[in-house]
Amino acid sequence: MDTIFSGIQPSGSLTIGNYLGALRNFVDLQKNYDCYFCIVDEHAITVPQDRLKLRNNIRSLAALYLAAGINPEKSTLFIQSEVSAHAELGWMLQCVAYTGELERMTQFKDKSAGKDAVTAGLLTYPPLMAADILLYSTNLVPVGDDQKQHIELTRDIAERFNRKYNDIFTLPEAHIPKVGARVMSLQNPTKKMSKSDKNQKATIFLLDDENKIEKKIKSAVTDSQGTIEFDKENRPGISNLLTIYSSFSGETIDAIVEKYVGRGYGDFKQDLAEVVINALSPLQKRYYDLIESDRLDEVLDLGADKAEVKANKMLKKAKKAMGL
Ligand code: ADP
Ligand code: NA
Repeated sequence: MDTIFSGIQPSGSLTIGNYLGALRNFVDLQKNYDCYFCIVDEHAITVPQDRLKLRNNIRSLAALYLAAGINPEKSTLFIQSEVSAHAELGWMLQCVAYTGELERMTQFKDKSAGKDAVTAGLLTYPPLMAADILLYSTNLVPVGDDQKQHIELTRDIAERFNRKYNDIFTLPEAHIPKVGARVMSLQNPTKKMSKSDKNQKATIFLLDDENKIEKKIKSAVTDSQGTIEFDKENRPGISNLLTIYSSFSGETIDAIVEKYVGRGYGDFKQDLAEVVINALSPLQKRYYDLIESDRLDEVLDLGADKAEVKANKMLKKAKKAMGL
């Protein structure tokens, strides 16, 4: 059975971008793959985090994984920092990666732009991510479009290691959904929606209540044309809303466009709010049941134990190959 690995940072509350681009797809994949799903807390600390908020975000993310349908009997769900092989192999792969290729990463450029204090961890994020993936001999990495470049770099690092030392790493491939791979900000539809966006109106969080969802959708930026049509290039706002509608309802974009011929943004946004609310409410119910229960800790402990066994085997091979 092929192996899947993917991670989400506990760097804030999850957005519908994280859900449509990543989390939702994990659920289907667990039927046919040996899956490792990780809460990548060591990635989250590449930028400043408040200690208590980080603790809460880790727990909340674990509950969201389960509420979305990750079945801990089928998949291994764990916290990255509880499996020390990640940090260890991460260091070793920093010694395989070149600073030039790390400096060229779009995410590094975006996150470091205009800041006077940039952590070294922000730059060396990709070798740690490569370690996450390579420790499990991962074949496929289900991610949103923004992570494509990191997966390509992971392959480059793995190939370089295999060539220089020993052929031990499987080369992974990105698995990117057809619709919803890049959900855009509601306030600036040329920018991707992100859980760390300072502007709360730009982002729909998975745990937003009905009122908030409705308000945010109603104030979403569109354009002055007033028609419901898909044109990503010239009309990014309405196109993004159509993508969200299609992803949550399962209707094709063409079918939705057809339905709204002769109608305006007001009608469309009202219906979209309803579609999103209906899709999220069962997940929210499951979340609020889980967050109170001891089951979370049990699942995470078991997950870390299981992940560690596999990760340590690969770490040992990598150390041997490098002469450590
Ligand atoms: P964020 O950028 O929101 O902090 P992460 O870096 O933790 O999210 O990414 C978690 C997963 O969610 C990744 O697979 C990433 O590609 C996906 N993802 C993040 N933002 C979006 C988005 N706007 N649209 C689709 N997928 C996204
Ligand atoms: Na990200």
